[in-house]
Amino acid sequence: MTRLRLAILISGRGSNMEALLRAAADPAFPAEPVLVVSNRPEAAGLHFAEAAGVAALSIDHKTYGKDREAFEFHVDSTLRGAGVEIIALAGFMRVLTPWFVKRWDGRMINIHPSLLPKYKGLDTHQRAIDAGDTEAGCTVHWVSAGVDEGEIIAQARVPILPGDTAETLAARTLPAEHRLYPEALAAACRQISQRDKKT
Ligand code: GAR
Repeated sequence: MTRLRLAILISGRGSNMEALLRAAADPAFPAEPVLVVSNRPEAAGLHFAEAAGVAALSIDHKTYGKDREAFEFHVDSTLRGAGVEIIALAGFMRVLTPWFVKRWDGRMINIHPSLLPKYKGLDTHQRAIDAGDTEAGCTVHWVSAGVDEGEIIAQARVPILPGDTAETLAARTLPAEHRLYPEALAAACRQISQRDKKT
């Protein structure tokens, strides 16, 4: 089995990245992490990646001011230089331009803390509580031009309990994310490998 060369893009804590790195420590996992990139130099996740022996670097979006494409050009050339074949966004909190999304079409996935198509964007847990929903969850999806709109790969559900706050619901959802993301990444890798075999 060939393992796809994986890059993980983060912005902060990196607990989902950690879950992916733990899963990929198994040589039978279909992705091999080769690079972690953060758009924030202070992201805590960078330290975990380094300690796990994965190359980790930051490309600070602030350096580029409003020039999103220049920032993304740097990210893109860094990923290509590392021979990356699949990107997992893991708490990466920058909206990507259509240029970058198109460049990685069919090779980039994201985890989002809601049951898409509900609650795209931010404050997902509070919005689910305010709507009176009885369940929430998380979704892994292919990244497409519309934010949080790409085809769904997998979802996990958690209950919303009386008295929940955004914080308690986030704390219940996060472990579900950590279970879901490695499984969904493996499924995405299998799809890409099948596709590559045919072409
Ligand atoms: C996770 O809950 C992830 O689903 C969410 O940010 C958190 C990052 O935590 N992502 C988004 O909201 C993307 N729109 P982590 O840095 O510990 O993985």
